[in-house]
Amino acid sequence: MEPSNPIVPQTGVGKRICIVGASGKLGRYMVRHALDRGYEVVGVCREQSVPKLAAFADRITVVGGDTNDREVIAKAVEGCDAVLTVLVPWGVHDYASGTARAVIDHAKPGARLVFSCGWHITRDGEDVYSWKIRAAVAFARLIRFTRLVDMDDQYRATDLIFKSGTRWTVVRGSDLEEGPSEGLPVWARHVGDPLLASNMTRRIDFALFMVEAVTDDALVQEAPAIVGCKTPSALAAHQS
Ligand SMILES: NC(=O)c1ccc[n+]([C@@H]2O[C@H](COP(=O)([O-])OP(=O)(O)OC[C@H]3O[C@@H](n4cnc5c(N)ncnc54)[C@H](OP(=O)(O)O)[C@@H]3O)[C@@H](O)[C@H]2O)c1
Repeated sequence: MEPSNPIVPQTGVGKRICIVGASGKLGRYMVRHALDRGYEVVGVCREQSVPKLAAFADRITVVGGDTNDREVIAKAVEGCDAVLTVLVPWGVHDYASGTARAVIDHAKPGARLVFSCGWHITRDGEDVYSWKIRAAVAFARLIRFTRLVDMDDQYRATDLIFKSGTRWTVVRGSDLEEGPSEGLPVWARHVGDPLLASNMTRRIDFALFMVEAVTDDALVQEAPAIVGCKTPSALAAHQS
């Protein structure tokens, strides 16, 4: 068994956290960060993806099943102080919105609920998007007929969350890259803020932001748009 990282503050000791979508790339990074902080971790993923969590098998409880299955979620979130959920744009069966609804309905009252999505989600319509992002969203909508992707399902999911009255945070990721951690990403309320201009975050640090949000009450009912703390735009904003 891998020991916890001794230099990470043990903010999760005595607390249980559920990670919905734990087998994906972001999910597995979140599992690592949560274990490093001493959380007891319950991971949820599709049955066929359970082997992707083999490296953690002796350290976490794995619940296999579709994440939009209400019974699966009810079982997984029982007794959890926080639920971290990957909102997936794949498929056309209301997977993301079904997952969000199940988490909202079954998490214990007062639990911290943290969801992942991309910059394209807007809470108040005040985000200013580049033509590249608008074109990417338009393209994703156009290829809905392939039945591979349903961008609108992520919009439905986040609308449910924004209206839920729960202790939610919707973390909106920039473009992502792999690589070692650079530290906690910085954030702005709206896309278009010069702080975000570099549009790049390490995936490991997106996961770090999700886990740190659990104990950051300033992020309750916020939809932070994040960017890597070492990117040129973040460094320039820090200097000015
Ligand atoms: N990729 C980016 O550039 C980017 C940018 C901004 C924000 N984000 C956000 O970051 C989060 C993670 O995205 P990611 O791209 O890094 O991928 P990821 O972490 O690998 O997550 C993909 C997830 O989708 C699930 N999945 C894949 N195909 C599916 C299907 N047909 N039906 C149901 N579930 C399916 C995977 O589950 P299995 O393990 O079971 O396959 C996994 O949980 C998402 O919320 C995304 O909106 C991504």
